[in-house]
Amino acid sequence: MPAKHLIITLDGPAGAGKSTVAKSLARRLGISYMDTGSMYRAITLQGLRQKINLADEKVLAALARRTKLGFKKRRDGTLDVTINGKNASRAIRSVAVTNHTFYAAAAPKVRAILVAQQKAIGRRQSLVSDGRDQGTVVFPKAQYKFYVDADFEERFGRRLREMRASGKTVDPKTLRRDMQERDQKDLSRKVGPLKKAKDAIVIDSTGLQVEQTVDKIMKYIQKA
Ligand code: C5P
Repeated sequence: MPAKHLIITLDGPAGAGKSTVAKSLARRLGISYMDTGSMYRAITLQGLRQKINLADEKVLAALARRTKLGFKKRRDGTLDVTINGKNASRAIRSVAVTNHTFYAAAAPKVRAILVAQQKAIGRRQSLVSDGRDQGTVVFPKAQYKFYVDADFEERFGRRLREMRASGKTVDPKTLRRDMQERDQKDLSRKVGPLKKAKDAIVIDSTGLQVEQTVDKIMKYIQKA
């Protein structure tokens, strides 16, 4: 564990390899990893389970308020998301959840609730935090901010392999279209859009293996 409280943010588009990189970086530094996308996914999963109207911001925010999200630390430092005490880390990865998460992500009231929770977690412990708005909104004073990007074709290829490896049936055409739509939604939402913080270091992971990307990031951290 580093001697002082440390926050490192990793923002970037879907499929840029952020989560695997963040996980590995956190392990190397001996601090926790927070996957903030899992929180938007968890609220969406609950909404789908309870068949609420996801497009109704008030209803969705009320759900976010009454849903107790938690994080359970794994041995590798990863935090698994729990919903009302139950581990939901697998259930939140379904295609249905992925394709409906933009409702929660675009709802300012929901974002306010989740951002407050993320800040609180960050106050209690050192973190590598991955998302879209971590360096811009949640931890503007983070010691290190990175913006991890990769070419669309590479991000698409990675996601396709990842989904196939986890046993999901995927139609490449549909995945490509879904990813393009998701990029567009991430970039264009009014609150908490995907945006590089002014002081973030851009890491292009195109053509790099996970550990090579982590090495690149570590160089900046060790230099300081
Ligand atoms: O990173 P991941 O793909 O799991 O995120 C799921 C969704 O949650 C994304 O489509 C993104 O729009 C949203 N998200 C967000 N803010 C974050 C992290 C994720 O709006 N900090």
